[in-house]
Amino acid sequence: MGAAEAEPAAAPVEAAAEEEPLLGALDVVLLAVLLAGAIWWLMRSRRQRAEAAAAAAAAPKSYSIQPTALGAQPSDQSFVKKLRSSGRSLVVFYGSQTGTGEEFAGRLAKEGIRYRLKGMVADPEECDMEELTSLKEISNSLAVFCLATYGEGDPTDNAMEFYEWLQNGDPDLAGLNYAVFGLGNKTYEHYNEVAKYVDRRLEELGATRVYELGLGDDDANIEDDFITWKDKFWPAVCEHFGIEATGEDVSVRQYRLTENPEVAPDRVYCGEVARLHSLKNQRAPFDAKNPFLAKIIVNRELHKAGDRSCMHIEFDIEGSKMRYDSGDHLAVYPTNNEQLVNRIGELLGVDLDIIFTLTNTDEDSSKKHPFPCPCSYRTALTHYLDITSNPRTHVLKELGEYAKDPKEQEKLKSMASTSPEGKQLYNQWIIQDNRNIVHILEDLPSCKPALDHLCELLPRLQARYYSISSSPKVYANTVHVTAVLVEYETPTGRINKGVATSWLKQKQPSEPDFPLAPIYIRRSQFRLPTRHQTPIIMIGPGTGLAPFRGFIQERHIAKEEGKPVGDSILYFGCRKKSEDFIYQEELEEYVKKGVLTMHTAFSRDQPNKVYVTHLLEKNMDEIWRVIGENNGHLYVCGDAKNMARDVHNIVLKVVQEKGSMSEAEALTYVKKMEAQKRYSADVWS
Ligand SMILES: Cc1cc2nc3c(=O)[nH]c(=O)nc-3n(C[C@H](O)[C@H](O)[C@H](O)COP(=O)(O)OP(=O)(O)OC[C@H]3O[C@@H](n4cnc5c(N)ncnc54)[C@H](O)[C@@H]3O)c2cc1C
Ligand SMILES: NC(=O)c1ccc[n+]([C@@H]2O[C@H](COP(=O)([O-])OP(=O)(O)OC[C@H]3O[C@@H](n4cnc5c(N)ncnc54)[C@H](OP(=O)(O)O)[C@@H]3O)[C@@H](O)[C@H]2O)c1
Ligand SMILES: Cc1cc2nc3c(=O)[nH]c(=O)nc-3n(C[C@H](O)[C@H](O)[C@H](O)COP(=O)(O)O)c2cc1C
Repeated sequence: MGAAEAEPAAAPVEAAAEEEPLLGALDVVLLAVLLAGAIWWLMRSRRQRAEAAAAAAAAPKSYSIQPTALGAQPSDQSFVKKLRSSGRSLVVFYGSQTGTGEEFAGRLAKEGIRYRLKGMVADPEECDMEELTSLKEISNSLAVFCLATYGEGDPTDNAMEFYEWLQNGDPDLAGLNYAVFGLGNKTYEHYNEVAKYVDRRLEELGATRVYELGLGDDDANIEDDFITWKDKFWPAVCEHFGIEATGEDVSVRQYRLTENPEVAPDRVYCGEVARLHSLKNQRAPFDAKNPFLAKIIVNRELHKAGDRSCMHIEFDIEGSKMRYDSGDHLAVYPTNNEQLVNRIGELLGVDLDIIFTLTNTDEDSSKKHPFPCPCSYRTALTHYLDITSNPRTHVLKELGEYAKDPKEQEKLKSMASTSPEGKQLYNQWIIQDNRNIVHILEDLPSCKPALDHLCELLPRLQARYYSISSSPKVYANTVHVTAVLVEYETPTGRINKGVATSWLKQKQPSEPDFPLAPIYIRRSQFRLPTRHQTPIIMIGPGTGLAPFRGFIQERHIAKEEGKPVGDSILYFGCRKKSEDFIYQEELEEYVKKGVLTMHTAFSRDQPNKVYVTHLLEKNMDEIWRVIGENNGHLYVCGDAKNMARDVHNIVLKVVQEKGSMSEAEALTYVKKMEAQKRYSADVWS
């Protein structure tokens, strides 16, 4: 409704009001106009809110994992009020994307009772963190932070606001007692940077560090790092506050079980991430809470020979309103292997089709259930719980309570302890021998935990991420991924199958019954330069090639359209040219057309290993020409552990030698490249 139509009605209505006819024709017109205006305004603000939410969800982040533990919006953000009203003095905040930090926070909060510090877990995103300035008003109060680092030293989504508040604000935190435990992975350049910063910054702002910063390395044994830290943390806390451990048992259940609750069958969850029936009644926008059930329309083998498998999978996203860019990630929600799920039912003698609900006994918690409830045990074990990773020590401690055989009980309790022998046993029997919960129940047959308790203890099954290997400019309605099948034998002679990749492997399309997979798109900052003329170097051995397939498709299109396109140089490596040279024909065609320059390293085709890094070292002039002389971009994708670090060192060497810089200058140069997004890494380990 335009203003020009509304305005002429105003004057006659005033006149009409003087003559006191209650509702003249013009009144009706005006009322209609006002009503229509109000409806329009309401609709517009609703649409704007929806658009803002969609934009926020799509906003690029410099890391690639989105949390799947989806808390409810709190009605009250005052954690101090909650602590006071429930007689608690310990608050454990977590910054977590994939749940480890949240789990550690929960364990610390629960253990507090042993030290007369009744604890509470809190999500900084749901709290008014400025209240840290007044936490001191609660006697013997302590704030602990379990914080993970992602990307380029970035906090997790839920800790972002808190992090920015610390960076930009200047609050007086005198009197605040705190400790920080960081979760990170040494294979990444910015190891545990968030925890290090928060620990330092809180001290700068006047807070008192009760115990030294703990750093967990996910590449080694983060559980060991955590329990080792925790073992010294608690005595330090007791000393600080002058308290003694009560020895009170902390094996209290967090959730209350209701089996066969009185609910209609259509109120029972069947694997939805959040909204009931969301997989049946699909409604955009699709995101981490509301994945799109995509058809898998292509699933073909890329390896030509050898005993490994690498899949090229195409997901149909037509009608989903999902958009993607080359360089984004596709998140897939897998389901656990049916045989493993059934095995748990068999080992514990439980009918997996029983419907149950777990309800948080802590009424102050915003997390009412550990996963969508009510559901069947089968659904929980299939869709919601991680049944294949190595269980953490607190799970073993609880399992120990159920073992009837004293030797088995002793073994479980020892592994859960912090004694050197116990830690060694945990490391050998669980980590090195790679046992999951099913293996443990098989190998310790007297241990028969209550299944609902197990469901409370196991972590949430996480979505898996794949670098999208197509360009929307060529494939607007499909998203391609390139995924290598994970399958290996463990030292106990069992075959472990990767949850997502072995599940995807089975999903072979056969028209008209296309298999389905819940997916969503995660925006990344791994982007082609905005100008096509900018030259690029792409380094992607193995599946690290994935995003570059999309990049090359895009540069090819630009060239076909007659646009000037800068050099596109690819470094690809695999084991044997005749076995795992993925997308060989496509790539060679691009080379033929002059779209691509390709350097290949076939590591196992000759007696000595040849890697992409060896080729880079030989081609230092070419690299400097691109990044130093032509302001080009350099991209690395794939293995974070060795390859990405080796590439980083070579780039530093190139800058130093070819750019005639000192080591320090070269370091600054590369840091600047990273800040300008001229050096980007999309790596995983
Ligand atoms: C940002 C990002 C992008 C990614 N892009 C891709 C991609 O493009 N293509 C791709 O294939 N993957 C990619 N991955 C990895 C992918 O997300 C999954 O981790 C991978 O597919 C394995 O998932 P899974 O569920 O099959 O295996 P899981 O069930 O998760 O099992 C994997 C775990 O098994 C263990 N493991 C694996 N191999 C062995 C072994 N030989 N010996 C002992 N233990 C072993 C390791 O602990 C490993 O973490 C990416 C990861 C991230 C974070
Ligand atoms: N977490 C998981 O479950 C999971 C799943 C899939 C992939 N990944 C990671 O993703 C990476 C890529 O996997 P992929 O199976 O596609 O690759 P891949 O086939 O194992 O490796 C690709 C090529 O890279 C070579 N290479 C090994 N070390 C290197 C180094 N430091 N620098 C340069 N090249 C090196 C390999 O050589 P050689 O093998 O002959 O030494 C091979 O020729 C893996 O390294 C792995 O870390 C992890
Ligand atoms: C894509 C990706 C990026 C990561 N980036 C970093 C990093 O820059 N620095 C670091 O120390 N750890 C990094 N990590 C490791 C995580 O911080 C570590 O696995 C941590 O345990 C995750 O905790 P969460 O489960 O609570 O999210 C990264 C992990 C992934 C999967």
